[in-house]
Amino acid sequence: MQAQILVTGPEKRPVFHLTNGQISYIIGITERAAIPEQLYFGAAIRPQAGYDFLIDRENRNGVLLFDQDPTSSLDYLGQEYPSYGHSDFRQPALQLTYPQGDQVTLLTYESYRILAHKEPLPGLPASFGRTPDDTMVLELHLKDEGSGLKVTLQYAIFSDVAAVTRSARLEQSGTETLWIDRAMSLALDLPDHDYDLIHFYGGWAHEMNLERQPLQHGIYQVSSLRGVTSAVQTPLIALARPQADEFQGQVLGFNLLYSGNFLSQTETALSGTTRVLLGIHPDLFRWELKPGHSFQTPEAVMVYSHNGLNGMSQAFHDFYRRHLIRRPASKALSPVLLNSWEGCYFNFDQDRLVSMAETAREMGIDLFVLDDGWFGHRDDDTTSLGDWRPDRRKLPEGISGLSHKIHALGLQFGLWIEPEMVNPGTPIWEEHPDWVIRVPGKSASPSRNQYVLDMGRPEVVTNLFDQLCRVLDGAGVDYIKWDMNRHLSELYSHALPASRQSELSHRYCLGVYQLYERLLERYPDILFESCSSGGQRFDAGMLYYAPQAWVSDNTDAVARLKIQYGTSMGYPLAAMGAHVSAVPNHQTGRVTSLALRSTVASFGTFGYELDPAQLTDAEKVRIKQDIADFKKLQPIVAKGCFYRLISPFDRPELCAWMAVSKDRQQAYVAVFRLLEVMGQERTRIPLAGLDPALLYTVKGPWQSLTPRYGDNLMSAGLILAGNKRDASRQPDGQRGDFAVYTFMLEAVAQA
Ligand code: GLA
Repeated sequence: MQAQILVTGPEKRPVFHLTNGQISYIIGITERAAIPEQLYFGAAIRPQAGYDFLIDRENRNGVLLFDQDPTSSLDYLGQEYPSYGHSDFRQPALQLTYPQGDQVTLLTYESYRILAHKEPLPGLPASFGRTPDDTMVLELHLKDEGSGLKVTLQYAIFSDVAAVTRSARLEQSGTETLWIDRAMSLALDLPDHDYDLIHFYGGWAHEMNLERQPLQHGIYQVSSLRGVTSAVQTPLIALARPQADEFQGQVLGFNLLYSGNFLSQTETALSGTTRVLLGIHPDLFRWELKPGHSFQTPEAVMVYSHNGLNGMSQAFHDFYRRHLIRRPASKALSPVLLNSWEGCYFNFDQDRLVSMAETAREMGIDLFVLDDGWFGHRDDDTTSLGDWRPDRRKLPEGISGLSHKIHALGLQFGLWIEPEMVNPGTPIWEEHPDWVIRVPGKSASPSRNQYVLDMGRPEVVTNLFDQLCRVLDGAGVDYIKWDMNRHLSELYSHALPASRQSELSHRYCLGVYQLYERLLERYPDILFESCSSGGQRFDAGMLYYAPQAWVSDNTDAVARLKIQYGTSMGYPLAAMGAHVSAVPNHQTGRVTSLALRSTVASFGTFGYELDPAQLTDAEKVRIKQDIADFKKLQPIVAKGCFYRLISPFDRPELCAWMAVSKDRQQAYVAVFRLLEVMGQERTRIPLAGLDPALLYTVKGPWQSLTPRYGDNLMSAGLILAGNKRDASRQPDGQRGDFAVYTFMLEAVAQA
């Protein structure tokens, strides 16, 4: 069904019903105070003339908005954009300071506008329509009592996905300066709190660990004040009914399209209501809003599923793939790459790189990526960030010389950069000490020997853009890995007055986005992959600029099961940078089969990160076959529906997942058995997402000659045998610990 915005009710107090046949989002305007009221978000409900049954107006004690009206306490009202200062004592979406020092705001409804086209948000990532008629936008125009501030709440609904996006724009049309202390992107008041909260924690090399806990009364928040979203906590959260699991039950998913300090929060308050807030973290944030100026919040997205967590993830995946990620047309599917980092670290010259690329070409790799170490005098991580001139000792013909050699082999060429950073001793450091984020007269903390440039300054963005253009112009670079290897500390911008220092973190993020946008405009064919010591900036904001992101510096296939499982909760497989690396693994020291490493990476962008010179001939043959196999199933992984079947968080010894093509004609299943135990019991693994009535051939380690119907595969499932008596007879990767079994399902053409 087409996305629709239905407007009913009286002209001054309309009711807005956003629906697409899958979901409904309903907003009312309160009778007396004209406050936008949240009425419903969930499975689609049939449009009606009125929605009184969603309105709760019991008499309540408490602080009232109107004298003698016991229904007027805002503390109980489900609101669209609650503000601080009146009778709502929950955490607000909006908090302002006025010239006289008070912080009391009351926003009331003025008018609305419906648009059939979604405009980009200035300077920020923004979802978009794919076709001229697949998106509808509602704007609610609100005004503030007395100050001249106008607030526009924007909602978008899409025909083909169970998602609604939100953002807010603040415009000071009055004559006095205001200060924004908090302006969240999304506020959603839910009528009950019978949910589990799902969120993610981690750190370097152990990103996206899933935690699930019942929603308690009070406030629970995940957040970052590190200048990046980080892997410590991430903006992605979900509210799942307690009985919901991967396959069934109601789940609401929330995420922020932003890459800086964030807050994702739930608050269960009076009468058991739940308020969800997502936006820029209000700590370390204060924005001066002068007359005639406006402030745009980042966009947030919320999805609804009644098919459990898999349904939530599929909604997120479809939303990002169709309405957020901008891929260069020439790279609709990610090229299979060889990255030089774990293969040679800083230790290379042109000949070594070309020889790596030659072997890569023989194995069928598409893209050779030169990682860190190509610029300044960077032989280790102590020097040269900020000095983006090729190191002629290693690359006598520069980047374009190397790139031409790689292209001559028939490969694409990619390059690593870390533009936001600076090492002491570089020209930028010496000539522009005021471009570095640090406080005059106070000590500054290094991290990986580096410091952060003030990306909020336009001249810094321009300097980096110019330096990078000198490298990239005419060099035929096809791919860039944009890294960011430290968090922001000792916040201070030499370009801002004392009263506006709290704008720095957001300005920094806007500067990063601006540099991305300028590079994308000049080099529309370059595919960007974002990275931040692995997954420290794996967020929905970055996906707007970089269609893929390096999931983790931990390339160990066993560790990756959990990391990729967690990441898949909110992000599509085609965005998940995943490589086969050497064994013993450089992070964990673990030795696993090529079969396991290759299978885990094949549920991501798929690439290699090792020194091809160290491979045996047999391994090269195997890799060539793996790459050829991956190319056949890449469309299923990149464009299909992903189903998590068995969670490594629930059963540390077992994990299973599968991808099904959208037309359900093909599926690719992987079962990972991590620990071999004698006397192991059998496991039944029901599949998911198949067409019940279609007959499928199943090709796997134990081949069934009889094709099986989809319903049979989803109920009877695959039976994973207990341990084999004679392990030595099992093929590589299917015996002992860390075993992997893959299956290809193909619908049989029916007469
Ligand atoms: C970070 C990245 C790695 C690699 C190194 C290079 O750690 O996450 O993939 O690029 O930097 O210094």
